[in-house]
Amino acid sequence: MSIEDKIRNELDTIIVPGVERSLVKMNLLHSIGVNEGKGEISLLAAALIPEVQQEIKDKVIEVVSSLEGIKEISVSFTEAKPKDINKIGHVIAVMSGKGGVGKSLVASLTAIALRRQGFEVGVLDADITGPSIPRMFGLNTRCTGSDTGILPVSSKSGIEVMSINLLLPNEDDAVIWRGPLIGRTITQFWEDVLWGTLDYLVVDLPPGTADAPLTVMQTLPVSGVIIVFTPQELTAMVVRKAVNMAQQMDKPIIGVVENMSYLYVPEIKKKIEIFGKSRGEEMARTAKAPILGQLPIDPELAKLCDEGKIENYNSAVMTEFSESLAQSVRTLL
Ligand SMILES: Nc1ncnc2c1ncn2[C@@H]1O[C@H](COP(=O)(O)OP(=O)(O)OP(=O)(O)O)[C@@H](O)[C@H]1O
Ligand SMILES: [Mg+2]
Repeated sequence: MSIEDKIRNELDTIIVPGVERSLVKMNLLHSIGVNEGKGEISLLAAALIPEVQQEIKDKVIEVVSSLEGIKEISVSFTEAKPKDINKIGHVIAVMSGKGGVGKSLVASLTAIALRRQGFEVGVLDADITGPSIPRMFGLNTRCTGSDTGILPVSSKSGIEVMSINLLLPNEDDAVIWRGPLIGRTITQFWEDVLWGTLDYLVVDLPPGTADAPLTVMQTLPVSGVIIVFTPQELTAMVVRKAVNMAQQMDKPIIGVVENMSYLYVPEIKKKIEIFGKSRGEEMARTAKAPILGQLPIDPELAKLCDEGKIENYNSAVMTEFSESLAQSVRTLL
């Protein structure tokens, strides 16, 4: 192994405070040069305040100078913009024409399933006026950042999250902005957040087919859409709208999820279709996409969401969802 590779391995152990991922995974390593025992390491300063830069610099000097063959070491920082550094494999948008059907829940479960499969995953909460992702993941720390960018907040299982709620002084503060400002915030979440290297960025959309979903579809390189619905007549109609929107914007639908499909009552060993007969097959045909899951109304799941422990969710349904999702994401270009 070359000395440069050894240095790189060491740098991969240095965690960027706040995001809990390494310098290398955050793409903050610019270059490594070694000449006659003198090492020169150039790092990028995007989203890092001077104190954090100093902390990282000290760490780098400490780990690198302990390597054999290194006599001298210099570390420098260059400014850079997150959008020039981020390397995001696929953007998956979770949408529905309707509110309250479980989009945020499905967006969270999608991120969790992909993370459990070993991928680097982020969640961009594009619901600016009704953000619910931080609550489900139990995140109540504030984001940090510098003039050049913002750092996301890392969840317990290492999913990077960005939401307006992580920027507000108080999570109960209301955001009463109009469309253009909301659109600009979503664009900023894409351009100014240091996501680093991610395999998947899951975008939780607000309900409807208006401003915010449009901004996401137009400004983010969405490679696949997941559509969420519940088995009600009204939902079926709005789902068709969402399907039309995705198709008009040329975004492939990678799957549909029927949420609150049924309630299982263990005492009588029966599934009760509370909202009516399943429309999974019908919606899958409409969307020309596979059913990724039919999630029951699960009191345990509701409890975990409320407690901010959604990452602890495990069930046969989750396993099936995870497997179907794994197949679907493989079809992404
Ligand atoms: N299958 C389910 N079992 C139990 N609780 C659920 C289920 N689906 C959703 N919930 C609960 O219902 C609430 C609404 O879900 P969620 O926030 O995901 O909907 P949404 O479609 O994102 O809503 P909005 O349109 O407001 O963004 C959540 O608090 C969640 O805990
Ligand atoms: Mg939501």
